[in-house]
Amino acid sequence: METLDVIVHAISLASATSHTYELRAATGGALPSFEAGAHIDIHLGPSLIRPYSLCNSPQETGRYLICVRRDEAGRGGSRALHRDLAVGRRLRISPPRNHFPLVAARRHVLVAGGIGITPLLSMAEALTARGAAFVLHHYTSSAADAPLLERLGTSAFAERAVVHHSDRGDNIRAGLPAELLAPDPDTAVYVCGPDGFMTHVMAETAAAGWQPGQIHTERFAPAAPAPAGDEVAAEFTVRIASTGIGYPVPADRTIADVLTAHGVEVELSCEQGICGACLTPVLAGEPDHRDEAQTPDERAAGDRITICCSRARTPELLLDL
Ligand code: FES
Repeated sequence: METLDVIVHAISLASATSHTYELRAATGGALPSFEAGAHIDIHLGPSLIRPYSLCNSPQETGRYLICVRRDEAGRGGSRALHRDLAVGRRLRISPPRNHFPLVAARRHVLVAGGIGITPLLSMAEALTARGAAFVLHHYTSSAADAPLLERLGTSAFAERAVVHHSDRGDNIRAGLPAELLAPDPDTAVYVCGPDGFMTHVMAETAAAGWQPGQIHTERFAPAAPAPAGDEVAAEFTVRIASTGIGYPVPADRTIADVLTAHGVEVELSCEQGICGACLTPVLAGEPDHRDEAQTPDERAAGDRITICCSRARTPELLLDL
């Protein structure tokens, strides 16, 4: 698993509940470049690896910025970051990976809910740099709880950013932004935020006539798990191409669980099917995809599987490991 060593160079308050962390290479100098929409995995401990979107401009080569909202109900990653990170702390991270890229379009509409603003800020920076036409809508509960509000207001694209606060009666359930009320074939839409927010935006844009391929999403939590259909094998065998050994995967365990229990080294991060860190090439067999990391087209191709959560529709899967 390729990793980088970085130092926490600065920490600042991004809202009442969010911190921005500036990370620089431990050895100084440039960091690997990234595209807008990319994320890094932060290794907080042997079993605590979490993905966070980069929110700075991809044109910056000397630092990565992440913004983390403290989530009391979460799985502990954000609490650990807020509690343990201090200026000067050395961290291990993955190189940036991007499952949420900008696409070619004449216009772009960016729609963020809460902390979902982070990858969209990086996109807004990139679109501004290329002189592209876009608008950014940021939906938050209140001004005090709006992450990165000050940065948005002082950015080069401030006049193209529209902030909505639900404590002022302005929320996504009151209606879609004007740019989304009617479909436009030349526009790409990007949505990032909590699950309920995204589900609502997806349903409303579909009802307004937008095509699914025009709506690009990134979730910070997995959607509801796919119901197991009759055709889904409860237990199947996962076989490793390099050794030829097959391992049974019971209904109550993941492929990643089974492989790590047998000493097979695999790469994991979110373990929820949202970051793509565990995507593994499939050489034979049909995956039963349960992830949000791949696009519908990638899932249909069936040549990679998220081994942290996805299963098999055939009795056996042969993985390129
Ligand atoms: S570890 Fe994140 S998708 Fe599997």
